[in-house]
Amino acid sequence: IEKEALDALAAAGDLAALDAVRVAELGKKGRISGLMKTLGGMSPEERQDMGPKLNGLRNRVQDAVEARKSELEEAELEKKLQTERIDMTLPPVAAPEGKLHPVMQVFEEIAAIFGDMGFTVAEGPDIEDDWHNFTALNFPEGHPARETHDTFFFHPQEGAAPKVLRTHTSPVQVRVMEAQKPPIRILVPGRVYRNDWDATHTPMFHQVEGLVIEKNIHMGHLKGCLIDFVREFFEVDNVEARFRPHFFPFTEPSAEMDVKYTKVGDSIEIGAGDSWMEILGSGMVHPNVLRNCGIDPDEYQGFAFGMGVDRLAMLKYGMPDLRPYFEADAGWSRHYGFRP
Ligand code: PHE
Repeated sequence: IEKEALDALAAAGDLAALDAVRVAELGKKGRISGLMKTLGGMSPEERQDMGPKLNGLRNRVQDAVEARKSELEEAELEKKLQTERIDMTLPPVAAPEGKLHPVMQVFEEIAAIFGDMGFTVAEGPDIEDDWHNFTALNFPEGHPARETHDTFFFHPQEGAAPKVLRTHTSPVQVRVMEAQKPPIRILVPGRVYRNDWDATHTPMFHQVEGLVIEKNIHMGHLKGCLIDFVREFFEVDNVEARFRPHFFPFTEPSAEMDVKYTKVGDSIEIGAGDSWMEILGSGMVHPNVLRNCGIDPDEYQGFAFGMGVDRLAMLKYGMPDLRPYFEADAGWSRHYGFRP
């Protein structure tokens, strides 16, 4: 028995096999344990003879199990050390890493330029109510201007107008004017949503809104401020710009700002040239909007503007297509992105 047990232990190639041998010999129902139990049925003389022999057998097999166990453990560790050895001279494998998204970069650039003009950043919710997105902004119920926004609506709650995904950042104008007394000079970056999807439109895109409410503000301030902005943003000394009359329910008068540009190869240079490009919407805040927010239009006036950040980023950094903006491609991000 002893030789069999010791041979089996020597043959056990790993810890699992070793444990199987231990159980077969020394476990509750093991062979050696079985022999130990027969001692109870022996005469005192037999027991005196067999007791020490069986005890000795059990102890030797037990010791052999322990010895084999540490042998196998050591071998296993050695194997690990061999296979898991780290070659410190290998160059590290870089994980694919993206960079700051151009939209975020452009948000920061715009905020820095207006920050120098005394604007602070304000934000509002992506899910808006009808009052802030439309009604307070002088879109009367049923007004055709509401239709132009391709609005995403939520299921209406009982008796209430449905919530919407905000179609522009202008509702934040209302939120700020409701909460805070003039003078106001805020810049609002944010995501906006319209049900529109092609090469130049995505259902979610980004706007920056500006709002100034002070005493004696007029159209000249609006023009000066936005021309300064365009010069700084596109890093050109002179920008030929025009303010073309337009309609927004919440500004009066309203104007879209166009800048001259030149095509150079595949990209575009802003400032001069023979074509006009529209870059933002603007206007003097409508007296109805001021009144809706508890501001007296005879005391305070202001201007507002809104621009599409995705398109400004495309223009400034020569990106031809809007769709990769939302594809999370690390290669694209490394090519067009900014600091890591
Ligand atoms: N909210 C307008 C839009 O999304 C832009 C705008 C903002 C126009 C502020 C005038 C003043 O088209």
